[in-house]
Amino acid sequence: MKTITVCMGSSCFSRGNSKNTQIIQNFIEEYNLSDSVQVRGCLCEGECKHGPNIRIDDKLFSNVYSEGLIDLLQHELLQENPQ
Ligand code: FES
Repeated sequence: MKTITVCMGSSCFSRGNSKNTQIIQNFIEEYNLSDSVQVRGCLCEGECKHGPNIRIDDKLFSNVYSEGLIDLLQHELLQENPQ
């Protein structure tokens, strides 16, 4: 099980994580990943100036804007779960 943790602090949220959350949910549905990926929110991680921040397991990804998010998800989530 992988865990995606989306920073819901006000800085990351307004920089793009409000939209990113929706994109992540759609991605999980589209690829039927709900049994292997869980999504959580977290409070500010103290890295606001590099936001929006998203963590996948222990890896922190910064400056995750919606344009690059699908590529990131494909790279991080699909390699071990080929469809
Ligand atoms: S709001 Fe996300 S690191 Fe501060």
